[in-house]
Amino acid sequence: MKKTLLGAGFAFTLLFSPFQQAFAAETTIGELRQLDTIAHRGASGYAPENTIAAFDKALEMKADYIEIDVQRSQDGKLVVIHDTTVDRTTDGTGSVKDLTFDQLRSLDAGSYKGEQFSGEKIPTFDEVLDRYHGKIGILIELKSPELYPGVEEMVAEELRERNLDRPQNEKIIIQSFNFESMKKMNSLLPKMPIGVLTSSKADTTDAALQAFATYADYFNPSYGLVTKELVDKVHALGMGISSWTVRSHDAAQFLIDMKVDAIITDYPDYVDPRK
Ligand code: G3P
Ligand code: CA
Repeated sequence: MKKTLLGAGFAFTLLFSPFQQAFAAETTIGELRQLDTIAHRGASGYAPENTIAAFDKALEMKADYIEIDVQRSQDGKLVVIHDTTVDRTTDGTGSVKDLTFDQLRSLDAGSYKGEQFSGEKIPTFDEVLDRYHGKIGILIELKSPELYPGVEEMVAEELRERNLDRPQNEKIIIQSFNFESMKKMNSLLPKMPIGVLTSSKADTTDAALQAFATYADYFNPSYGLVTKELVDKVHALGMGISSWTVRSHDAAQFLIDMKVDAIITDYPDYVDPRK
């Protein structure tokens, strides 16, 4: 089991007296967790994904976290974009890894979502950290890190420079579908909360979950994999569970009923109408 484990036990001890703890003994940490709303690529149901417009919208909607996808330009700048090509979400073409930062930055990353968003740019990773840390949590996904050798070290350095590599790190989590990359991230920043992403049922076996729990704090499956039994198993291993991607009220309600710890959604208000 990974040592930092969300700091849940530590917080529990600080928040409650021994008397209260005794009475709460049968209440699991899982039951004590709050449900967090994570704005997927920002509030991407309402604004162009992975842009300042979408992240500001998530902040305005009082989401608990923004989720961002990090890749790297040809000349080594970390940028925030989901696809490995720019074709779908910008007015350009080509692979992110083959375009320079100036080329990426010159693209219009907003118009695909509506003319009112024209002029939105592909944000840089450091720009997102500086603009949002301390204001909203940041769930950082390393997207296709196998395409970007050394990206883990670069991300670690950006976080270290800002003292964001600590448990009291203003709600910053790093996740990826690439498990080797997350093992490496855990070695580089042992105190940083780590998540593993999957949409594969093969990753939900007891053996797989136990292996994840040695370096990860969160097991983050697509919602089609989620059952109450899976949530309980993940919690029993000391990990949190955040599930994705909610784009309907029914999916939100399902995950609320399953008692996951966080819901990753394009529409923060579907999880909590007050948002
Ligand atoms: O955070 C979960 C989710 O972002 C994983 O899928 O393809 O949207 O990056 P994707
Ligand atoms: Ca993502």
